[in-house]
Amino acid sequence: MERPSWAPPDIDLDRPSASRVYDYFLGGAHNFAIDRQLADAIASMTPAIGDTMRANRAFLRRAVRFLVGAGITQFLDVGSGIPTVGNVHEVAQQADPSARVVYVDVDPIAVSHSRAILADDPRTAVVHADARDPEGILADPGTQRLLDLDRPVAVLLLGVLHFVPDSDDPAGIVARLRDGMPPGSAVALVNVTHEDQPPEVIEAQKMSGRTGTPIHLRSRVELRAQFDGLTLDDPGLVHIPLWRPDSPLDVDDHPERFGALAGIGRTVEA
Ligand SMILES: C[S@@+](CC[C@H](N)C(=O)[O-])C[C@H]1O[C@@H](n2cnc3c(N)ncnc32)[C@H](O)[C@@H]1O
Repeated sequence: MERPSWAPPDIDLDRPSASRVYDYFLGGAHNFAIDRQLADAIASMTPAIGDTMRANRAFLRRAVRFLVGAGITQFLDVGSGIPTVGNVHEVAQQADPSARVVYVDVDPIAVSHSRAILADDPRTAVVHADARDPEGILADPGTQRLLDLDRPVAVLLLGVLHFVPDSDDPAGIVARLRDGMPPGSAVALVNVTHEDQPPEVIEAQKMSGRTGTPIHLRSRVELRAQFDGLTLDDPGLVHIPLWRPDSPLDVDDHPERFGALAGIGRTVEA
């Protein structure tokens, strides 16, 4: 197939990628037929999946506004994805124009597209790095330039640690990022879970292996452990629509059908 101008030369056009599948579900244009085929196959088994992704983006917006309201104006968005409507810097800068955001992703298309649209915004940086290398992310010149690590930072890990296998210690990744942050910082997490899920969700998850970064569904106890050393803000670790909804009308009758748990934890104040 013909390589579009926005696709870096070193990416494999014959293998779906998590970020492009997600982009397709959100209605974006940075995906290939191979991504759409996989997304459609997953959606045919689990029709709620598009709702889950949109609910995740709605959580992102609520979480960023909440964090800015709590006085945090620096963000480290790890696994940030291909830019789409309502990116972290847009939401944060709407609440506080001085807000700064470092976007981090391992996917070359997410990185190149982020760099293209953010080239003129001095309050953002884009880092090409792997979440499994927290020290590398913190030491990156983009992170160093943009974030003042004497002031609180919100680390966002939204829909990313379920791509990290147990052997790479996802809770340890959170702990290492947390330990790099000053007191009063925050960590926001969204992860998919197998709890309360019908068998077809478990089956559909197996298809994610085609991307080379299979999804790992985890228990509530495993996901709670990612907040070790942090104090959870109310309402704790909950199904995504239940986390501080803008309106009670936004909460689905069956919030568990979204299959993902969200929470925000704080590092201890000085
Ligand atoms: C489902 S998207 C979530 C995007 C965004 N955080 C959101 O919540 O809308 C997951 C993103 O995580 C990225 N990702 C997966 N594994 C990663 C890793 N080990 N390090 C950094 N990014 C990763 C993928 O490339 C993809 O862009």
